[in-house]
Amino acid sequence: MARLNVNGKMRTVEVEADTPLLWVIREQFGLTGTKYGCGVAQCGACSVHVNGEVRRSCSIPVGVLKSSDRITTIEGLSHNASHPVQRAWAEIDVPQCGYCQSGQIMAAAALLARNKRPTDADIDAAMTNICRCGTYQRIRAAVKLAAGGAKAAGGAQ
Ligand code: FES
Ligand code: FES
Repeated sequence: MARLNVNGKMRTVEVEADTPLLWVIREQFGLTGTKYGCGVAQCGACSVHVNGEVRRSCSIPVGVLKSSDRITTIEGLSHNASHPVQRAWAEIDVPQCGYCQSGQIMAAAALLARNKRPTDADIDAAMTNICRCGTYQRIRAAVKLAAGGAKAAGGAQ
């Protein structure tokens, strides 16, 4: 059994301790914005925040989490998609197929929480999530927009 604080709500779930957090989020709690891509901490589709840090939920066994750990999924990032990163994503129209984008947004939100004015190098270092549609240029432009910068000229790829 695990007691988890997800998006500000305490929830109890009957699962094995080695169950990946990703599957608890998706299958037990029905929060399907967090995606499965690789299952081995490589792609970032499953990114969530744990205590404000971006983490790959496919590779976190629920047994290592404490009830005091704050887990935030894309559904809990803001009300009405009003987080600055979500607004920038919409303005720049970042997604193509969309599959990777929850993870990208969670990674960007964590980056901006610790670095208010990231450089291109900071963004490239922090945003290691894979996008098979190749939206990387728009992601970089949207991170800068969310950081308070102007919409990058030619930001759309
Ligand atoms: S599904 Fe977790 S990193 Fe790919
Ligand atoms: S938008 Fe399709 S994988 Fe990133």
